[in-house]
Parts: sequence; C-alpha cells; structure tokens
Amino acid sequence: MKKTLTALTGLALAGAVATTALSGSHGNEAAMAAVKARKAQMQLYAFNIGLLGGMAKGEIEYNADAASAAASNLAALSKLDQSRLWPAGSDNMELGTETAALPAIWDADSDVMAKGTAFVEAAAAMEQAAGGGLDSLKGAIGPLGASCGGCHKAYRQPNN
Ligand code: HEC
Repeated sequence: MKKTLTALTGLALAGAVATTALSGSHGNEAAMAAVKARKAQMQLYAFNIGLLGGMAKGEIEYNADAASAAASNLAALSKLDQSRLWPAGSDNMELGTETAALPAIWDADSDVMAKGTAFVEAAAAMEQAAGGGLDSLKGAIGPLGASCGGCHKAYRQPNN
C-alpha cells in the first residue's frame, strides 16, 4: 500500500493537499516535469550549502554577509511547499534513470517527512548561526550536511 506524499518538508505539511497518483503518458509527462523541478530545487540547496561548506573548510574566506545570504536562501528554500514535486509514480522504478528517487519515499512506513523536517530545522539553525562568525557557522554545518545526507542515504539511488 503506497501512501500519497503530500509534502516533503515538515513546515509544508500543515496545509498540504493530497496529490493524486499519476498514470498513463500524460502522467509520465507530469511526473517528468516534477522531477525536473525538484532536481532544480536540490541544485539550489547544493549551490547555497556549497558556499557555507567552503567557508567551513577554509577554502573560501569567511564573510558574514555572504554566509547569511546563503543560509537565508537555504532556509527559505526549505520552507517551499513541495507537494507537487513528489507525485506518486515518479520514482526510479517507474521512470528509470530519469530520477534517483527511490520508491521507498512513498511507502506507507516512509519517514521521508521526518528527514525533511530535520533538514528544515538544520537550515533554520544555520540561518541563525551563519552571520555570527566562522566558529558559529562551523557549529551548524555538520547537522545541516547530515540532514541532506540522511535523506539521500535512505531515499536516493546512489551513483545516479
Ligand atoms: C527529505 C529528503 C532530502 C533532503 C532533506 C535533501 N535531499 Fe537532495 N535529493 C533527494 C532525493 C530523493 C533526490 C533525487 C531526486 C530525483 O532524482 O528525482 C535528491 C537529489 C539531490 C541532488 C541531485 C539533483 C540532480 O540534479 O539530479 C542534489 C545535488 C541534492 N539532492 C542536494 C541536496 C542538498 C545539498 C541537501 C541539503 C542542503 C539535500 N539535497 C537535501 C532527497 C533529499
């Protein structure tokens, strides 16, 4: 029994509307549009955390304003309603190599919502920390990176 994934992030859960499962060729097109959009969202996560991670590692010089801006972007992105980005039937069993999203995301016992909430919380913590000095940023980068990795480990096909 597959459940409908209404929204990925914890904050978006409250007002989320159920997305109906997709089927047929029209469904495939709609699924591919959703895949494209969610990959773009992930790329924006990566672009913003890239700056923060670079500063934490000392590869990029720390700058409070730039760090704050990237962290605020990430926090704002984490709050977007993703209910239309993850329609049932848009996993890699249905769509093949077009997506790395594992079917387990939509399983009845999936904890993808909890993974999403962990990311929302880590992004909020980074938003508070990033402008407060390099040590402050460094304190928040571990949990933030772990929140990305925790979801990928469980729900993203490796090497894709
Ligand atoms: C709640 C789960 C979850 C969280 C949290 C999450 N991701 Fe993802 N991510 C995924 C899934 C699932 C995919 C595969 C999407 C697809 O291929 O359709 C993915 C794909 C990606 C990709 C590849 C995108 C592409 O163009 O193929 C990047 C890059 C990425 N994530 C970065 C991040 C970063 C950085 C973070 C944290 C700041 C993050 N993700 C947080 C689940 C998550």
